[in-house]
Amino acid sequence: MREAMASAEVGDDVFGEDPTVNELQKKCASLFGKEDALFVPTGTMGNLISVMTHCRERGLEAILGTKSHIFIHEQGGISQVAGVLASTIENNPDGTFDIDKIKERIRLTDDPHFPYTRLICLENTQNMCGGKVLPMSFMQDVYGLASELGLKVHLDGARLMNAATALNVPPSEILKYVDSASMCFSKGLACPVGSIIAGTKPFIKQAKRTRKLLGGGMRQAGVLAAAALYSIDNIIPRLHIDHQHAQMLAKGKS
Ligand SMILES: Cc1ncc(COP(=O)(O)O)c(C=O)c1O
Repeated sequence: MREAMASAEVGDDVFGEDPTVNELQKKCASLFGKEDALFVPTGTMGNLISVMTHCRERGLEAILGTKSHIFIHEQGGISQVAGVLASTIENNPDGTFDIDKIKERIRLTDDPHFPYTRLICLENTQNMCGGKVLPMSFMQDVYGLASELGLKVHLDGARLMNAATALNVPPSEILKYVDSASMCFSKGLACPVGSIIAGTKPFIKQAKRTRKLLGGGMRQAGVLAAAALYSIDNIIPRLHIDHQHAQMLAKGKS
């Protein structure tokens, strides 16, 4: 990975001129089954950019789990920075939440007492529920409800590749049920820095503006994207071995 970083071809990514970043974004869009992707410094910034891109006006509402990273561990950035109200629903032990509770929470009325609900955020794997992989049926149900009501779904997929490995499906299969997703290269994928967000072309175009606003526009970022590309080719294919090791550790075997 260090060698790939040292020999990376670079350009100014703020102007879209870094060939290694461009290659990474193209590869991730294809891997995720989305139109486009954007390299960002961290998972926290990827989530904030995604929420800000879906909720362009201040005062909109996002529904998310009480145990979600966005709610617990991102300093309330969606409220502090973006003026988005967090409406939380208790996570079940398996990381899901009850669809009926989501229905009760959604506010789409013109009554001026209420904010408009715009977004539902899921997390897969669900870190604070013990790294649980969300059942695909749950994701499908949430997406079905959101689509019916004109809401968007964002996935905090910091460990999306672990979820895909555990389910033995390509990540695009999971992401069929969300409008946007973030994924971290700097977790189990062994990179020093870097996350990616993916969605439609207009979503990523706006996300790129928001990344710059938040100070996340990087210049010769190809040295970091090269590490991410290395992880796609060399670390992701062996994630199942990490899972076997984790199972052994959990069971106390050697
Ligand atoms: C589920 C989840 N989302 C987002 C993040 C944030 O990632 P970063 O540390 O790159 O900001 C983390 C970090 O541990 C995480 O576990």
